[in-house]
Amino acid sequence: MSEKDIESVERLDDAVLSARGVETGYGDLQVLYGVDVDVREDEIVVVFGPNGAGKSTLMKAIYRLLPLWDGSVTVTGDDISGVATDDLVEYGVSYVPQTDNVFPNLTVGENLDIGGASVADSEARRGELFDLFPRLEERVAQRAETLSGGERQMLAMARALMPDPDVLLIDEPSAGLAPQLIDRAFDHVERVRDAGTAVLMVEQNVTAALRVADRGYVLDMGENRFEGDADAMLDSDRVRELYMGQA
Ligand SMILES: Nc1ncnc2c1ncn2[C@@H]1O[C@H](COP(=O)(O)OP(=O)(O)OP(=O)(O)O)[C@@H](O)[C@H]1O
Ligand SMILES: [Mg+2]
Repeated sequence: MSEKDIESVERLDDAVLSARGVETGYGDLQVLYGVDVDVREDEIVVVFGPNGAGKSTLMKAIYRLLPLWDGSVTVTGDDISGVATDDLVEYGVSYVPQTDNVFPNLTVGENLDIGGASVADSEARRGELFDLFPRLEERVAQRAETLSGGERQMLAMARALMPDPDVLLIDEPSAGLAPQLIDRAFDHVERVRDAGTAVLMVEQNVTAALRVADRGYVLDMGENRFEGDADAMLDSDRVRELYMGQA
């Protein structure tokens, strides 16, 4: 792992998702200045860094909710830079935003149906996701607003997984969860990866996230600052000191 500001981020030939040189922002405000992130098909990759670094902005740029001012995003080799968000399902990309990620007034089952609107055999897919997250099957008729925080996050993930994407983008899966539920939320993310969907997640609970992740990237002020294997990042005094709130 690079221990200083990195000049260039390693490009992985076997990446399923590759964001290169991403520049974007809001109106006149530039937030990202050429960010690179790659995810392999069997990986959980965590993006972390200070508040305001541009982590959520990166997710929105990849999911085409923000225009790319420069750079590119490819998924399984297809350039999605010019693809509309609504068409991304065909390219194998799904996104779980940090907030408002389920329809609170609808039941668990109805939320999944909406997630599976474009899925040919959505009943079968629903069954697969119930195997992955049995709790959701028990709650199928319950309105989403009555779920616990952890269950709601599980539903948000399952909804995004209905089309069986190649890559799942998740913005802070552990946000707002009680401390004792955080590790369980990451167990669920691990299940997603083990079932064959690559995961790119933003997280503030860095230590717990790195324990399930394969690799990590630190973003700071809209630029790549560190990258490395998750184990190496956990062991790095510098990363811990600067970005994990502990020396
Ligand atoms: N809709 C918006 N309009 C204008 N500026 C925005 C908007 N959303 C975010 N920004 C700004 O862009 C910068 C990056 O925000 P972003 O949400 O990507 O940060 P983040 O790394 O996800 O932070 P956090 O850890 O707090 O979630 C911040 O300075 C923020 O104020
Ligand atoms: Mg954010």
